[in-house]
Amino acid sequence: MATLTKPYSKPEVRQTQCFIDGQWVPARSGKTFETINPATEEVIAQVAEGDQEDVDQAVRAARKAFEQGEWSRMDARDRGRLLYRLADLIEDEADELAALESLDNGKPVRDARTADLPLTIDCLRYYAGFADKIHGQTLPIRGNYFSYTRREPVGVVGQIIPWNFPMLMVAWKWGPALAAGCTIVMKPAEQTPLTCLRMARLAQKAGFPDGVINVVPGFGPTAGAAIVRHPDVDKLAFTGEHLTAQTIMREAAPTLKRMTFELGGKSPNIIFDDADLEAAAKGAHFGLYFNQGQCCCAGSRVFVHERIHDEFVERVAEMNKARRLGDPLDPETEQGPQVDQAQFDKIMKYIELGRSEGAECVTGGERFGDRGYYVQPTLFDNVRDDMAIAKDEIFGPVMSVLTFRDTDELVQRANKTIYGLAAAVWTRDIARAHDLARRIRAGTVWLNCYNVFDAAAPFGGFKMSGVGRELGEEGLRAYTESKTVTVQL
Ligand code: NAI
Ligand code: MG
Repeated sequence: MATLTKPYSKPEVRQTQCFIDGQWVPARSGKTFETINPATEEVIAQVAEGDQEDVDQAVRAARKAFEQGEWSRMDARDRGRLLYRLADLIEDEADELAALESLDNGKPVRDARTADLPLTIDCLRYYAGFADKIHGQTLPIRGNYFSYTRREPVGVVGQIIPWNFPMLMVAWKWGPALAAGCTIVMKPAEQTPLTCLRMARLAQKAGFPDGVINVVPGFGPTAGAAIVRHPDVDKLAFTGEHLTAQTIMREAAPTLKRMTFELGGKSPNIIFDDADLEAAAKGAHFGLYFNQGQCCCAGSRVFVHERIHDEFVERVAEMNKARRLGDPLDPETEQGPQVDQAQFDKIMKYIELGRSEGAECVTGGERFGDRGYYVQPTLFDNVRDDMAIAKDEIFGPVMSVLTFRDTDELVQRANKTIYGLAAAVWTRDIARAHDLARRIRAGTVWLNCYNVFDAAAPFGGFKMSGVGRELGEEGLRAYTESKTVTVQL
């Protein structure tokens, strides 16, 4: 694991244009938009604002690369080699990329360097190794035939990603798509386009042929919607809010493209009275406050057994008071600003709601400093299930503590949500841990840990938390079509 010693200097911004068919080009309209440093509220750079025309061009390039030319004929093993090379180039520039991620997103550079970067590199390497291990089956069909399946790339894929883990979301999307042999039109989030564009430059350096990867920065209802509606995009992969996903499903319906969604959550983190309380409190703290609380799987409903409630709240409150907020580029900083004004406003609204609905604000509850979108680590106690802060995804550093006594009742309460992304259980009782893992309706259940991610472990949601899975072999399958071939003997 990387150790951070030196202060990180402000990184250079090198790519701000659309990347289409191997060329760096301005938006057809000539428009640009500002990307903001959330720590200072200052403009970092002007970025090309793509729209339908740019998406059209990108899709044409992706289609051509998919059907003609080098990529369409490339040996699977060579696709894997390109992915390995991309991972190596990212590793070579890891410090600079971490600083750029920190600048554009506001996350502490130490999180970017020790979490986002290694996970990004690992994901690309994991899928690089998969490129030449994608195969079908032979089928024992009745009669004098030989029948087999082939797994083929699904085609041109549209990928729309959010701002909370900009580079890592690129890796989760590009890794399986490229391993499978697809071509890509990606739209990064308007808040954080810079590292995605940098990764496109590194992919170009790695030797991916023109048109295989295209990046069109811009806004959701314009550039994003153009990808969603495009009849020549075969599959769409989206990460973001469930309300956006509903719009996308409707907008994409006429094209019947394949769709996978990774959406939000209100994940229960359950702590029994027999748990290692120190580990559980630390895990719950990390599970909620990591990345400024801007995690789809944030453990935002903390169910604590009534017998250990007071001690738990005390421990978390202490950690909150000791938490270092500040300049994200300072390696000592533990918490940076929220990504933008809109997220800041949303969080402050929920904090007000928490207070007005009668929850007890134990720590935080206010803005930190007078510049940048900083919110103090906030802890609400005496939260009831029907309060807004217990039901809605806040996507900020706001923890809700709820108490429980009876396990059956707890399971019902934990499952009483529109979401089903993640959950955690802290207990020393192994039978109880696995029993709850079975009964909780969520795509990931962590037992005595939190936020453990790995490229080999599928991730995704039940219910409104998503459709399909990313990562692992399941994540790769989402980028393939199965073809049955039968020959008479
Ligand atoms: P969003 O879902 O609107 O944005 C995610 C991506 O979708 C961005 O690239 C955006 O430009 C694009 N997009 C927006 N509208 C679109 C449309 N009509 N067609 C195609 N693409 C579109 O999320 P937003 O507004 O940034 O955040 C709102 C809330 O969503 C957050 O407060 C949080 O609760 C949740 N969220 C969840 C994430 C997750 O990891 N599951 C990530 C980001 C946000
Ligand atoms: Mg939105």
